[in-house]
Amino acid sequence: MPTDKVITLDALNIDAAQLVDRAIAALQHAYAPYSGYPVGAAVLADDGHVYTGSNVENAVYPLTICAERVAITKAISEGAQHILAVAVATANGGTPCGSCRQVMREFGAPTMPVFITRTDGSYRQRTLEELLPEGFSAIDLPGAGKARSE
Ligand code: THU
Repeated sequence: MPTDKVITLDALNIDAAQLVDRAIAALQHAYAPYSGYPVGAAVLADDGHVYTGSNVENAVYPLTICAERVAITKAISEGAQHILAVAVATANGGTPCGSCRQVMREFGAPTMPVFITRTDGSYRQRTLEELLPEGFSAIDLPGAGKARSE
């Protein structure tokens, strides 16, 4: 079930700059030999941990996975249930792709902050709702949440 829970970063003793720094550091691990476009991501989860990811490409191009989805998948597979903030870092401040926005909505509230970051440390802040207005989620499905064991 997607969350509408709102927790401030302050409550978890992490600030935006720290999350941004983690995303920039994660970019160093990008495997992007085909696009030459490394991406790093950092996700603050409701277990208080920060999970990071980078894009991991493949010679079979569609198998590529984005940095944000690597980080989110790590968080959820390690036991986190919700994500509270995301930072994504690229050289030119590129925004998260549509697929990643949808996956963010699965585990994050519409109010969740997303920090769109450049490798020089500058960033702009958006809410998930600004990036994915009127997004479809499990709350639109009758019986949503039954598939998730809680
Ligand atoms: N990429 C991401 O990692 N995240 C996004 O939100 C946009 C795109 C990656 C996928 C691919 O490895 C490269 O950037 C170029 O599309």
